[in-house]
Amino acid sequence: MALRRLSALTLLCHGVIAGPLGPQTLDARSAPQTRKLHGRFLHITDFHLDEYYKVHSSTDEDGACHRGNGPAGPYGAETSDCDSPSSLVNATFDWIAANLKDTIDFVVWTGDSARHDRDEDLPRNADQVLGTNTWLADKFADLFADDQGKGMAIPVVPNFGNNDILPHNILLPGPNKWFQHYAHIWRRFIPEEQRHSFEYGGWFHVEVIPNKLAVFSLNTLYFFDRNAGVDGCAKPSEAGYKQLEWLSVQLQFLRERGMKAILMGHVPPARTESKMLWDETCWHKYSLWVHQFRDVVVVGLYGHMNIDHYIIADSNDINFAAMTASSEFGARQAMEEEFSLQSASDYLMELRHNWAKLTPLPAADKHVSREGKRRKGKKNRDPWGERYHLSLVSGSIVPNYFPTLRVLEYNITGLEDAPVWRDTLRTDIRESDHPQKHLELRRYELDDIDTTIPSDTKKKHRKNKDSKKKKPPTHDPNLHIPAPPSTSAPPGPAYSPQPLTLTGYTQYFANLTHINNLNLTSNATTALDHNDSNAVDGGGQRERWRDSWWSLVPTRWRDGKHGGKKPAAPRPPEPREFAFEVEYSTFEDKVYRLDDLTVKSMVGLAVRIGEGGVFDERKGDVVSKEVWDDNDDDGDDDVDVEEDEEEQEKSDDGEDEDDDEEEVKTEKKKKKGGKGNKGRKGKKKRKQNKTWLHFLRHAFVCTLEKDELKELA
Ligand SMILES: *[C@@H]1O[C@H](CO)[C@@H](O)[C@H](O)[C@H]1NC(C)=O
Ligand SMILES: *[C@@H]1O[C@H](CO)[C@@H](O)[C@H](O)[C@H]1NC(C)=O
Ligand SMILES: *[C@@H]1O[C@H](CO)[C@@H](O)[C@H](O)[C@H]1NC(C)=O
Ligand SMILES: *[C@@H]1O[C@H](CO)[C@@H](O)[C@H](O)[C@H]1NC(C)=O
Ligand SMILES: *[C@@H]1O[C@H](CO)[C@@H](O)[C@H](O)[C@H]1NC(C)=O
Ligand SMILES: *[C@@H]1O[C@H](CO)[C@@H](O)[C@H](O)[C@H]1NC(C)=O
Ligand SMILES: *[C@@H]1O[C@H](CO)[C@@H](O)[C@H](O)[C@H]1NC(C)=O
Repeated sequence: MALRRLSALTLLCHGVIAGPLGPQTLDARSAPQTRKLHGRFLHITDFHLDEYYKVHSSTDEDGACHRGNGPAGPYGAETSDCDSPSSLVNATFDWIAANLKDTIDFVVWTGDSARHDRDEDLPRNADQVLGTNTWLADKFADLFADDQGKGMAIPVVPNFGNNDILPHNILLPGPNKWFQHYAHIWRRFIPEEQRHSFEYGGWFHVEVIPNKLAVFSLNTLYFFDRNAGVDGCAKPSEAGYKQLEWLSVQLQFLRERGMKAILMGHVPPARTESKMLWDETCWHKYSLWVHQFRDVVVVGLYGHMNIDHYIIADSNDINFAAMTASSEFGARQAMEEEFSLQSASDYLMELRHNWAKLTPLPAADKHVSREGKRRKGKKNRDPWGERYHLSLVSGSIVPNYFPTLRVLEYNITGLEDAPVWRDTLRTDIRESDHPQKHLELRRYELDDIDTTIPSDTKKKHRKNKDSKKKKPPTHDPNLHIPAPPSTSAPPGPAYSPQPLTLTGYTQYFANLTHINNLNLTSNATTALDHNDSNAVDGGGQRERWRDSWWSLVPTRWRDGKHGGKKPAAPRPPEPREFAFEVEYSTFEDKVYRLDDLTVKSMVGLAVRIGEGGVFDERKGDVVSKEVWDDNDDDGDDDVDVEEDEEEQEKSDDGEDEDDDEEEVKTEKKKKKGGKGNKGRKGKKKRKQNKTWLHFLRHAFVCTLEKDELKELA
């Protein structure tokens, strides 16, 4: 086994390092490489291109931006449930061409390119879904074509969304016709040696930086709870199980080659007390896998939810029993696909409550933090936060809020001159006897992988009250737990700053309200023309519903902020110039104050977002606002709680203060008359909701004003 793997690996390295064989390769090697790494890549998701979109049509459920007379803007109907016009998609590509194309190293594209199936008058068919995907794939191929126009200049890594198949959400195990179609549609993106893997399960990976970094396109529809075509990840016959086996084997290869991996997919592993998106067996196994490969995995990147946020998974939540049982664990609801503002906000509140329970990790250079002292006696066994792992979820192009996209940056210290990805698909190299394809599908007996529980996990489980439930079912021959990092391995790029660590990102958005420049009649009553059966009684709520698109009343369809209005005059639209602008940048954001996107930094931010959000252990659930207020009373009523935005933005809680914040510190001392505990707590208390509201505002891509957010939260 070991020998076989070794020889396979050599061949695999050979295939990858050497690239196309023959004189071409030699030319390429001797010729100076023109492209260099920039340390940036694009994450773009959820286009939902709708070829039937009609400008100035109605945004209500009957119109669906397909018919009627209403406020559908020339670049899309922001804050509504309408899908994207091709003008928005074209303008997005034009903007990327003008602003990003030449400064990024690869593209992560997490699916849902086709429109929703929401209009009964225009049901989707396979030709449309595949046609839209072909159209978009061609746009990517054209935009990132190399100079000769024969291949790709940089790699684009696509992924399926739950709307890229028919009927939506239902994807049977492969091989199937969908994979065949997409293998063709994405022929320029899927490496030749991965085609068999792709056609078998819809999963593949791309070495976006040869011998350094691979992006794994996971078929999350096999993990998705709503996919009635499969059944979780416990049974070896299941597609989800097979995908995780494949992932484990591939990540082990990367580990042996000293490489790192970015995992990406459409449906994120979102899971809170009451809500989840993935089947439980898949969630627990995936979480364990990522934990075991914490030296390899850089981050997980996802889409689907349209809200900009992130997820911190805790390996202490991993339940071994839940990996093999068709689980009855917890009473979580599968999140609706129509992710209403209210359910998004409920979900985010639950995240916040979880984050309120997190303990900040010690600053790298300060081993005795205030929190450290509080946990006196316990030595910090996990200074990097390796029990956690991170998934970043970006907002969408489809303007459920505003269209948005993300440019992530990563550390390329020492990689400035590393060989870059080159398109091998356009060359003559053929799959004939490329070794890697056999590796993709081969069933491994994982006998050389340590299936015992890694010592650190063991320790945790011994401590755990319900350790019995959590013990790995050693008798289950189908559970192949990947090996943990070698004990001598330093923390991976997700944990300690090093090459390939994510250093931050810039979130861009297009303000369609500004760009569409609609001249609408404000006929307030028309918004209520169709009475919603869900509407609640009671004047206050009713008024709010009348006045705001972001109403607290869950509606099946959102008409958007202009709902019910009509163009003032039957004249052509006069949109302003389309552009994305910076929504926020983690490099500069004064509230987030992120040095990088390591788990430690993101946990630190989560702690600040969570402050003030009290989790009720008794109820084990989100607490009501009343309870929240009660619990919030921790004896420092006398602190000054007036708003002082500027100071809040600049000030810190003292643990990760930079030198250039010295001035603020001094000012703080002056104001508080020293660093008294009370003063600090008071400061925190004032700051707490600010960070939370800031986060919430970004979750909804700046479509809500502060007072609206406060009401929602
Ligand atoms: C978008 O671009 C395509 C060509 O890529 C073109 O055929 C189409 O008309 C454009 N749509 C709009 C609305 O400009
Ligand atoms: C990038 O990695 C290098 C080498 O590990 C390290 O010295 C540097 O601090 C990192 N830069 C950032 C911004 O994290
Ligand atoms: C978007 O544009 C509208 C209209 O110009 C403006 O009122 C609003 O403040 C803008 N929103 C953001 C987040 O910039
Ligand atoms: C406003 O709505 C009413 C009732 O639907 C309608 O009669 C009237 O024409 C509308 N006004 C305008 C300016 O569209
Ligand atoms: C909406 O419902 C209210 C009360 O249920 C009713 O009085 C009103 O006529 C309805 N409006 C429309 C436009 O159907
Ligand atoms: C909006 O339309 C009305 C009615 O046609 C017109 O009087 C007004 O000047 C328009 N406003 C703008 C800013 O174009
Ligand atoms: C922070 O938010 C909570 C929950 O919404 C609220 O009860 C509390 O009063 C807020 N605190 C401040 C200082 O605004």
